[in-house]
Amino acid sequence: MIITTISELRNYLKAQRAKNKTVGLVPTMGFLHEGHLSLIRCANAENDVVVVSDFVNPTQFGPNEDYETYPRDIERDAKLAVAAGGDVVFYPSVTEMYPEGSATFVEVEGNITRVLCGASRPTHFKGVTTVVNMLFNIVKPDKAYFGQKDAQQAAVLMKMVRDTHQNIELVVCPIVREEDGLAMSSRNTYLNDEERKQATILNQALAEGEKAFLAGETAVEKLVSIIADKIKEMPLAEIDYVDIYDFPSLTEIKKIERQALAAVAVKFGKTRLIDNRILREE
Ligand code: PAJ
Repeated sequence: MIITTISELRNYLKAQRAKNKTVGLVPTMGFLHEGHLSLIRCANAENDVVVVSDFVNPTQFGPNEDYETYPRDIERDAKLAVAAGGDVVFYPSVTEMYPEGSATFVEVEGNITRVLCGASRPTHFKGVTTVVNMLFNIVKPDKAYFGQKDAQQAAVLMKMVRDTHQNIELVVCPIVREEDGLAMSSRNTYLNDEERKQATILNQALAEGEKAFLAGETAVEKLVSIIADKIKEMPLAEIDYVDIYDFPSLTEIKKIERQALAAVAVKFGKTRLIDNRILREE
């Protein structure tokens, strides 16, 4: 079932809550792939009712980013979401979410939103926290599901929930990959054949970094150069960042002591891809 208005969604959920049903929320920007579907399946296993939101959120795109061209296909999304266990696909218009005169944002301050993707996308996380906060207010889920693929986003949202005392459990699900290791992403559709081939280097480079870490290397500088050198083997790869931070605080570290996030963002042509690994002792 596709619902496009907030009032209709609220009425539906009110009736479900009256029957004591638990509600899980899976926020997405649509063009669903196996990564999204894994979150929906997980939500379906843990909740009575699953709401999948499908909304390309304009406020999280920068002025020269791909808001206009971001792939969209609601009919296909609705079929996939239902098959994976979604009960409702919430598909609001931009004016439904941001009515004329909207001027309120939710922003997590500090390094957590400034490092990694925050450096090249300075307004991105403000847009993400604003829209996810709206979705939390509209749906009031018991649990909400996010992917480790966007590890910084998950860390920022965990902080938002904690800092704003929201009674919602965030569940972070593992990265789903293509057979050759490329992390699934709606943006992979932008890649031409050669870029698509070379993009597998992200996962391979992170695997090399992980191997070195598990063999005893804990110096961040060294691990970063192992990963970056591997990525540079691909002529089309243009590195935005390769970095390692404590996780989930995203504070700076020189040595990995407990667990850390190794994260990369790399452009292939116009397409910017991200990937990451949690480095921790086995
Ligand atoms: P979107 O990029 O559509 O992703 C929706 C959710 O799917 C996110 O939690 C993301 O981490 C997860 N996901 C994407 N690819 C994945 C993969 N390969 N494996 C596992 N999970 C994956 O992230 C957003 O949308 C938006 O920022 C949103 C949170 C919806 C706010 O607008």
